[in-house]
Amino acid sequence: MSSNLTRGARHVAIIMDGNGRWAKKRHLPRAVGHQRGVEAVRTLVRAARQMGLEVLTLYAFSTENWRRPEEEVSALMGLLKRYILADLQEFVENNVRLKIIGNYKELSPDIAALLEDALVRTAGNDGTTLVVALNYGSQDEIARAAARAAAKGEVTPDSIAAELDTADLPPLDLLIRTSGEVRLSNFLLWQAAYAEMWFTEVLWPDFTPAHLEQALAEFSARERRYGGR
Ligand code: IPE
Ligand code: IPE
Ligand code: MG
Repeated sequence: MSSNLTRGARHVAIIMDGNGRWAKKRHLPRAVGHQRGVEAVRTLVRAARQMGLEVLTLYAFSTENWRRPEEEVSALMGLLKRYILADLQEFVENNVRLKIIGNYKELSPDIAALLEDALVRTAGNDGTTLVVALNYGSQDEIARAAARAAAKGEVTPDSIAAELDTADLPPLDLLIRTSGEVRLSNFLLWQAAYAEMWFTEVLWPDFTPAHLEQALAEFSARERRYGGR
């Protein structure tokens, strides 16, 4: 299922980058950039739901982000917690299903419990699926999936794909990265095999639904060939 508004895309993923630079430009603490980043998330999730996008996957915290100063990590975790607490009821009421990819059970017990509760409360929803990548690293995901495939006796592209955290999701159509960096930073390496990529200089807190619409319009004009001709 895909709607006209989403230009045929079912699954869009975003590397939300540039919160720190957004704050720096304004001589504000990085935490303020992250706070404004959450506002951009909130607005975009609403827009994605209203346009009928099937899956929106957001890179919120990578397995490498633990390398940041403890103060910044705890600010990010605090924002995550407040976002889920504040918006969970809205997800429930608007048919948004929450899904987490990455090792979220390794986050602090209070956050893991909060996420568990949110997953349970939205599990029956069948509108937009909001996938949040938390303590997520693609190499870690692939290694975990390959180990499970091997334990079942067969290691093939299909058997690994069936064990990925994203196994139940439609294929990735469009991968967006903000802030001008042109790299994947360990995000959806497997899933991006035939995804279209869209990079923008816009810093994440400045990203609006209009940017998503622009990316989708450009996506729809591209010819996807999947190696054929
Ligand atoms: C993205 O913004 C947010 C996370 C990685 C959690 P950054 O914090 O990476 O911002 P820049 O890249 O330093 O500007
Ligand atoms: C990628 O951004 C991770 C998230 C958006 C959560 P980073 O800012 O961590 O990536 P690098 O370090 O610039 O590659
Ligand atoms: Mg960054």
